[in-house]
Amino acid sequence: MQYSRIAVLTGAGISAESGVPVFRSEDGLWEQHRIEDVATYEGFARDPVLVHNFYNKMRQELKSREPNPAHIALTKLQEELTARGGQVTIITQNIDDLHEKAHSQHVIHMHGELNKLLCERCGARIDFDGNSSPDTVCPKCGKKAMRPDIVWFGEIPYHMEEIQQVLFACDLFLAVGTSGVVYPAAGFVSMCRHLGKPCVEFNLEPSVVGNVFNHGYYGKAGTTMPKFVDYLLEHDALPEKL
Ligand code: APR
Repeated sequence: MQYSRIAVLTGAGISAESGVPVFRSEDGLWEQHRIEDVATYEGFARDPVLVHNFYNKMRQELKSREPNPAHIALTKLQEELTARGGQVTIITQNIDDLHEKAHSQHVIHMHGELNKLLCERCGARIDFDGNSSPDTVCPKCGKKAMRPDIVWFGEIPYHMEEIQQVLFACDLFLAVGTSGVVYPAAGFVSMCRHLGKPCVEFNLEPSVVGNVFNHGYYGKAGTTMPKFVDYLLEHDALPEKL
């Protein structure tokens, strides 16, 4: 098989058709809120209640969100290539759980997860589906030191070592629904190109790093991704267009 180890980076755009707001668009999350207030440690230290409530609202809204055909196509790709002895690893910047709801396996959440809290005191990461506050107690150490388990601006993403190994070992790199603005994820394509891996993006339009990719499929991921997956599984080759 030409393409048997595939690394897929996903961003907010893959969940847009499921009704999860993206970050950067006219009605995106960062148009409606100051990043400094809700996505930095300084903002959390200044007003923890506001930050807890910001993520509480997202966590509750997420409960009614369902995966769309793009998430489901990635699961199909993963299942079928795994059955043929290959491997598909999903690295997501998303904090939603739609890859899991679509039954994808071993999803690497580099920016954390809405359905988890992190204890600042003991470092425990706990599953959580309720509403948190500064009074929420850590079930491991008993301290009131819980924060949303989200990687904020200025913090180091999770699982970087594992991600590097996945990118080194892949024979195809796909980026789906990400603007290419936020590093280190935005730099994965350059790294893969230097390593000689074919790189393909799926977006509504070329992203900020769109010129670094070998190829792009432009349109809604819920439409392009299922067609792409079917073609790849049948031909073990990349389609000219979709
Ligand atoms: N299909 C494909 N792409 C889409 C779709 C769609 N249906 N809808 C939107 N997009 C594209 C947009 O064109 C844009 O390039 O998805 C991208 C979304 O970009 P961002 O909102 O910047 O999201 P993302 O790239 O995931 O942001 C990265 O920034 O704020 C931080 O931590 C946050 O993980 C996030 C990171």
